[in-house]
Amino acid sequence: MKQLIVYSHPNPLSFNHAILEALGGALKAQGDEVHVRDLYALQFDPVLKAVDFEAIHKGGVTEDVKVEQDQVRWADVITFIFPVWWASMPAITKGYIDRVFSHGFAYSYGANGAQGLLGGKKVMLITTQGAPEAYYAGNGMLQSMSQTIDDGIFRFCAMELLGHRAFGEVPSTTPENRAKMLAEVIQMAATLK
Ligand SMILES: Cc1cc2nc3c(=O)[nH]c(=O)nc-3n(C[C@H](O)[C@H](O)[C@H](O)COP(=O)(O)O)c2cc1C
Repeated sequence: MKQLIVYSHPNPLSFNHAILEALGGALKAQGDEVHVRDLYALQFDPVLKAVDFEAIHKGGVTEDVKVEQDQVRWADVITFIFPVWWASMPAITKGYIDRVFSHGFAYSYGANGAQGLLGGKKVMLITTQGAPEAYYAGNGMLQSMSQTIDDGIFRFCAMELLGHRAFGEVPSTTPENRAKMLAEVIQMAATLK
C-alpha cells in the first residue's frame, strides 16, 4: 500500500513524534511504501492567499500546493497525526487542508451541488489531547470534532474514513499508558488498507 502520513507537530520530543515513528516503522515493516509530509519541517505555508485563488481561476495551483497534491494523488491511505489544539487541529494542519484540498482537486460544485473528488482514498486520523477521552466523549466534544473534521472535511471530499483515534490525557498520563498507546498505534498499521 502507498501510505502518506501528514504530520503536524513542531517538537521532535513530542508524543505525536513518537506516534509518527511507531506508525511509520510498523507500516514499513509490513512492506508498505511510506511518505511522510512533516508540515513544520517543510515550513509549509498554511495561509490561503490571493495567489491561490488566482491559480485556481487559471485552472492550476501554486507550486508548493502541487507538490502536496501529487502526494495525495499517489497515496492509497492518508493518515493525519496531530495534537488537539483549542478543540480542533493545529493551524498548520487546517491551512494544509485550506490550500491542498482545493476546489477542483478535493471537491467541486456542479449542477447537483457539492461533489467530493477524493473517492477511493482512505483516511485515518490519530490525534492526542490533554482531556480524558471519557470527558470529551461525555460533553460532546469528540462528537463535535468528528462532525467538523471527519464529516466536514474528509467525508465531504468522498474519502473513506478508516478511523479517528483520539488518545486522551497524553500530557498527564503514566509512561506505561503512553507505551500502551504506542503499542496500539503499531497494531493499527495492519488495519490501514
Ligand atoms: C495551543 C494548545 C491548545 C491546546 N488545546 C487543547 C484542547 O482544546 N483540548 C485538549 O484536550 N487539549 C489541548 N491541548 C493539550 C494538547 O492536546 C496536548 O498537550 C497534546 O496532545 C500532547 O501531545 P504532545 O506531547 O505530542 O504535544 C492544547 C495544547 C496546546 C499547546
